[in-house]
Amino acid sequence: MKKIAFGLSAVALSIAASTGHAGEVEVLHWWTSGGEAAAINVLKEEMVDAGHTWKDFAVAGGGGESAMTVLKSRAIAGNPPSAAQIKGPTIQEWGDLGFLTNLDDVAKASQWDQVLPRVVSDTMKYDGHYVAAPVNVHRVNWMWANPEVFRKSGASIPTSWEQFIVEAKKIKAAGFTPLAHGGQAWQDATLFEAIALSKGSKFYRDAFIDLTEDTLRSKDMVNVFDTFKQMREFVDPGFSGRDWNIATSMVINGDAAIQIMGDWAKGEFTAAGKKAGIDYVCFPAPGTSDAFTFNIDSLAMFQVDGKEKQAAQKDLARLILEPKFQETFNLNKGSIPTRLNMPRDKFDTCAHSAMDSFLASSATGNLVPSMAHGMAVNSMVQGAIFDVVTNFFNDESMTSEEAVDKLARAIKASM
Ligand code: BGC
Repeated sequence: MKKIAFGLSAVALSIAASTGHAGEVEVLHWWTSGGEAAAINVLKEEMVDAGHTWKDFAVAGGGGESAMTVLKSRAIAGNPPSAAQIKGPTIQEWGDLGFLTNLDDVAKASQWDQVLPRVVSDTMKYDGHYVAAPVNVHRVNWMWANPEVFRKSGASIPTSWEQFIVEAKKIKAAGFTPLAHGGQAWQDATLFEAIALSKGSKFYRDAFIDLTEDTLRSKDMVNVFDTFKQMREFVDPGFSGRDWNIATSMVINGDAAIQIMGDWAKGEFTAAGKKAGIDYVCFPAPGTSDAFTFNIDSLAMFQVDGKEKQAAQKDLARLILEPKFQETFNLNKGSIPTRLNMPRDKFDTCAHSAMDSFLASSATGNLVPSMAHGMAVNSMVQGAIFDVVTNFFNDESMTSEEAVDKLARAIKASM
């Protein structure tokens, strides 16, 4: 049945292209590293094969802060792109402003309600209607490690943050950088939320979803900041401002032992020809093996003028959910398909572990949205948390108690 349906849609597509419905899509994204570019090129090629024109609107900068600034100025000028990489609650913010277009017809024809997990389909809807198409699910609470560096240092893979500190000291004494890190606010927040998650999913939810003042001011939160500050001892002197993919290359090259980063890092290992379980290993971030911090990438579709542009935009949305794209894109990106029941055989052991963990954590309530990657809170609250976290990491004189107080105040002021 499926094969017939795909065959028909391919025929419909070539007819659309040959009858002059081909149009242009302008796509804003921040996928510019080696692995990211390989992934987005898959979509570009599929659109070009379907007869459309792809206008690339790439704005470099991990985590997407620069991309979002550029998007805002284009939208204010009344000239938004056809599609933009927007995620989580931010989709609602753009929906509230009235910029997004309705994709229900594409979603209905391709049965998105049936092929997507609920946690994904809910995020793609504004006011009950589809306005965005999900490309993947990233797991954020990962630890990427170079086994050779561990061996040479006589260190073991840590399963708690206490042990991390013990092993990192051995690695440092052996002359390696224990933690490959880039000092940018979103990377600091990625590390910080991984440490917070080790206090349990309930603590994480109370702090970053419900924004409960008692939790934000708790002893556990003071302890999270303490551990976070200790990480300063394990980064190299050049960490400030470093891009995340350069940090990944330190692990790839054997200069550093570990990176705490979402599985877009795996895209860099793959692009460098490295194999999971041989050249590098993946483990959940210490103390978080039962939990899965999710980050769903999606392209939200903006209202555009012109029948051709609108047709191209709908094709873009449709292609994103097709099994072929889901497989090839995610093999390059390091993430797992967002579509349920996809064949797993081409994916590596890290992806299998993410797939298992996604299902298991959804059943146990340990599937939580990433605060650092815009899935948990709106952009105002996220910005407030980022400021406190990054200032604390860079200010040697700020105590954890002061940081907790600033965090609680900043969140309250941004709500
Ligand atoms: C995005 C990923 C991207 C990463 C680094 C995350 O917020 O969801 O797709 O690879 O930032 O730029």
